[in-house]
Amino acid sequence: MNIQTAPPAKSLRSKEQDNARVELLLEAMTLDEKIGQLQQLDAGGDTLRTDIKEAISQGSVGAVLNQTDPQICKEMQRIAVEETRLGIPLLHARDVIHGFTSIFPIPLAQAATWNPDLIEKMARISALEAAAAGIHWTFAPMIDISRDARWGRIAESFGEDPYLTGVLGVAAVTGYQGDDLSAPDAIAACAKHFAGYGASEAGLDYNTTNIPENELRNVYLPPFKAVADKGIASFMSSFSDIDGIPATANRFLLKTILRDEWGYEGLTVSDWNAISELSIHGLTENDKDAALQACRAGIDMEMVSETYSAHLKQLLEAGDISLQDIDAKVRRILLLKIQLGLFEYALSGPDLVSVPDEADIQAVARQAAIESMVLMKNDHDLLPLSEEKLSSIAVIGPLADAPREQLGTWIFDGDIERSISPLVAIRQFAGKNDAESRKLRKVIFAKGLKNSRAYGTEDMEEAVKATSAADCAIICLGEEAILSGEAHCRADIRLPGAQLDLLKAIKDTGKPVIAVILAGRPIILDEVCDLADAVIFAWHPGMQTGPALCDIVFGKVSPSGKLPVTFPKSVGQIPIYYNHKNTGRPPSQDRVLHISDIEEGATQTSFGMTAFHLDDGFEPQFPFGFGLSYARFEYSDLSQDRHEMDCDEALNLEVNLTNTASVGGTETVQLYIRDHVGSLTRPVRELKQFKRIYLKPGEKQNVKFTVTKADLSFYRRDHSYGVEKGRFSFWIGGDSSNGLSGKFVLL
Ligand code: GLC
Repeated sequence: MNIQTAPPAKSLRSKEQDNARVELLLEAMTLDEKIGQLQQLDAGGDTLRTDIKEAISQGSVGAVLNQTDPQICKEMQRIAVEETRLGIPLLHARDVIHGFTSIFPIPLAQAATWNPDLIEKMARISALEAAAAGIHWTFAPMIDISRDARWGRIAESFGEDPYLTGVLGVAAVTGYQGDDLSAPDAIAACAKHFAGYGASEAGLDYNTTNIPENELRNVYLPPFKAVADKGIASFMSSFSDIDGIPATANRFLLKTILRDEWGYEGLTVSDWNAISELSIHGLTENDKDAALQACRAGIDMEMVSETYSAHLKQLLEAGDISLQDIDAKVRRILLLKIQLGLFEYALSGPDLVSVPDEADIQAVARQAAIESMVLMKNDHDLLPLSEEKLSSIAVIGPLADAPREQLGTWIFDGDIERSISPLVAIRQFAGKNDAESRKLRKVIFAKGLKNSRAYGTEDMEEAVKATSAADCAIICLGEEAILSGEAHCRADIRLPGAQLDLLKAIKDTGKPVIAVILAGRPIILDEVCDLADAVIFAWHPGMQTGPALCDIVFGKVSPSGKLPVTFPKSVGQIPIYYNHKNTGRPPSQDRVLHISDIEEGATQTSFGMTAFHLDDGFEPQFPFGFGLSYARFEYSDLSQDRHEMDCDEALNLEVNLTNTASVGGTETVQLYIRDHVGSLTRPVRELKQFKRIYLKPGEKQNVKFTVTKADLSFYRRDHSYGVEKGRFSFWIGGDSSNGLSGKFVLL
């Protein structure tokens, strides 16, 4: 088989030709070879393991994961192509989540950019680097709606909003897969984790989820539908159970929704060992039963556990499953391999990929880190700092010089050597100050704590001294990478360890304090905001953390990040999210009372019987969509071209946005809509569109939105998708808690 030539370009291949090739192969395959294609094995390690080698040469494995040594990848592929009867190439998969060797901001940080083009660029670079190493398939984007900051995997998500997650998920798929999956530098993407994983109770990973179908359809499924419509190559089932049926055996999800309703034709893969774990869930008695349930539900490929290999033949012989079931799964796997061009250049493909220049990669990483950072507070316009006025800066904190920690979770292949910390960048920035006008010369570093979890205060005195000797302090606090990500959930989401004590000690010096928080989740920031004069929430911003922070702190660029997730006042408010329901007793400031204001002997009904907490009220610390800028954006002159619209008409909205500051900046103008009455209760607000607008100092721009029925449709009580007539409100503003508003009626 000639595997050295590139495949015919997509334009020269037709779907019919691809399908015909699949049928030819399928006809030639034995049952063992077919079942072998359904197996994915973990091939990780420094060498090519004998068991893997044997499995490949026997044709009993169709895909591997976690091997990224190019030579080992090539050898595995050579065995599959040259030493098996039909020479069917392997699919190599890896979790390329926010970069491969070049590490970009974590997905939650990427979401804070609200910049799909930038996300596409990062995914494209990731695909190039991974394809050059012999990877064909990434298990990304993770598009689980995440409303619970206790959940470690919120770091991998694009946050709490279905629309934003869908837009950014599609951008990631475009970057990974390009416009021709058969191109050597394209890698197959994977929508995960299907579905509802982010609703894991108590923010505990792998935990039970109970999601009513209306909530599933209107909150958790829309991003998956968006990437399915985009043509994502695969779906991965979630570990979690939904209302008692684990996603991996959930025929309603994998068949009724994915295949019958959406017409999705790509392959489905279980999560790691998830089929075998059906027996641990207690849905099945043993692996044979687990294989049967997963097979019937619609899992094509089994990741790591081997229940299919062990039991499908018997299940077939017993008539519990049909050869048609197996063939349908094998078809989808073979088709993806053909679409990826693996039959033509499985071995030569990596050599055909050209990776971008380092400078171009670093520029994208820096831009992404800049745009992901969210300015939460900036008292007295302390920021940006002026190197003309400052002569010395204290750089403090356990995350000020932690190049590994700032990369965040899921960075197995990340090149830590290329990760630049805030300390290194600020020193480089100060060191360049040759011109007389630029006074900043001195940078004093003190870690203050051993790490982000430490309680030992023995190093705090040094940090206090460093701050006292400087004009101001930049203190980098937050979470080490290991405190976020899979299975790393926290019941208390304040700053870990003695970090608040360190911040207090630094504040007590009386010097201006800029707090930079690096974390993989929303952190409780009430005390941080009380103590620091300025607060930048930086997430885990990746390898360009330092230079990006410098650009923002010293005003080379204005921060533009907007929160993709709500920041609670306390963990007790969770789950708290902006697109909540109104309830029958919505709270309002005039109807709630703080626990400290309750009169002695107050009677049971002495104040507001509404939905709020006595200690924390009902509003978050920071709302979804929030983010400050050095620019000042004013919204004015709202107009709408109609107050009533038919279903097939459009409502045109306009607003003027003015930057009244002396510096330029980018504002993400957000359009929210509320459907006041429906066959189901509807959220008080839903993000429907957004536009990123850059304005020079003093510039005014007219911003337009067109609302159509696409923006008003939802899954109604009867589960049909469409609009319902009635009253609507809309808001156009800079976050989900304010904005200029208007009303209209859908006729
Ligand atoms: C993990 C994760 C999944 C990942 C897979 C392969 O357990 O749940 O997101 O893609 O295994 O590493």
